[in-house]
Amino acid sequence: MKHLLSLEQLTAPDIREILNGAGEFKRNRGSHRRPLEGQTWALIFTKSSTRTRVSFEVGIRELGGGTMFLNPNDIQLGRGEPIRDTARVLGRMIHGAVIRTYAQADVEEFARYSKIPTVNALTDSEHPCQILTDIFTFEELRRESIAGKVVTFVGDGACNVPASWIWAATKLDFELRIAAPKAYQPSQELLLKAGGRVLCTEDLDAAADGADLLYTDVWVSMGKESESAQRLKDLSSYQINEALVKKARPVALVMHCLPAYRGKEITEEILEVHANTIFTQAENRLHTQKSLLAWMVQ
Ligand code: CP
Ligand code: NVA
Repeated sequence: MKHLLSLEQLTAPDIREILNGAGEFKRNRGSHRRPLEGQTWALIFTKSSTRTRVSFEVGIRELGGGTMFLNPNDIQLGRGEPIRDTARVLGRMIHGAVIRTYAQADVEEFARYSKIPTVNALTDSEHPCQILTDIFTFEELRRESIAGKVVTFVGDGACNVPASWIWAATKLDFELRIAAPKAYQPSQELLLKAGGRVLCTEDLDAAADGADLLYTDVWVSMGKESESAQRLKDLSSYQINEALVKKARPVALVMHCLPAYRGKEITEEILEVHANTIFTQAENRLHTQKSLLAWMVQ
C-alpha cells in the first residue's frame, strides 16, 4: 500500500519514476493507460483550493476513476465524528483519498485507519504534490536535471511549501537557499531531520546570487489569516522583483505555486514576464499527479 503523506517517505528512485511517468502522461494525454478504471476516489478538503482540486478531479477521471468531493462540513466529520471512524467507513467503500487539511497528523491518521492509498494535498506541514510538480516543470523547461542546481525560496520559509522543498533537496541533491526573516525560517528540527544542502538566510541578495530557480509562495498561508497584518509587515522586503531576478542566473526560472498576490511576494511585472513558466507549472499539477496516482496503485 502506497501513500504520499510527506516527501520524506519517497526515495530518489521513487521520485524519478513519478517524474518520468509525468512526462509520459503529458505527452500521451487522451491515449494513455487507465489504472484507476472502476475505482472511486474521495477528495476531502477542509481548506480552499483551485489547482489541487481541479487537477485531482480531472486526473482521476482521465485515469478511468470516479471522484467524490467531500466538504468536511457536509459529512459527519464536521460535526465531530472522529477521523479514525470516518477513515474506517470510507476505507470499506472507496479506493483512495486525497486530503487537504490543517494538521499533518490528521492525514496520517486517515491513512493508517482507512488502509487505502492516501495523498496529502496540502497540510500546514507539507505540500508534496506541488514540489513534485515544480521539479518536473524545472526539468521540463530547462531540459536538464535539478541535481546540482541552486533553488532559492523567497518569503515565508516556515510554511508547508519550503518544507517540502527541504525534503526534495535532500533526495535529489540540489542546493536550497531559503531567504526569510529569522522568525519565518524553517525549524532547526526539520533542517536537522532532513539534512541536505539548505542555507537559511535573511540576506535576500546573497540567496538569489547565481540561482537557477527563484521561487515564492504567499506570505499569508491558509490558517494564518489572523496574522495577516504582522506578516505583511515582516515579509515586505522578501519579494521577487526585477532587481532580485537580476541577481539570479540569466537562465533562471521564476516560479510561484499560486495563488499569487501581486505587489506582495511577487511584482505584477515579474509574474507576467514569467507567466508561461508559472502557468505551465500549474498545468503540470495534472500530469504529475496522474503519474503519482498510477505509481501508487501499481
Ligand atoms: N498551488 C495550489 O495548491 O493551489 P490551490 O490552493 O489552488 O490548490
Ligand atoms: N503556503 C500556502 C500554499 C498555497 C498553495 C498555503 O498553505 O496557503
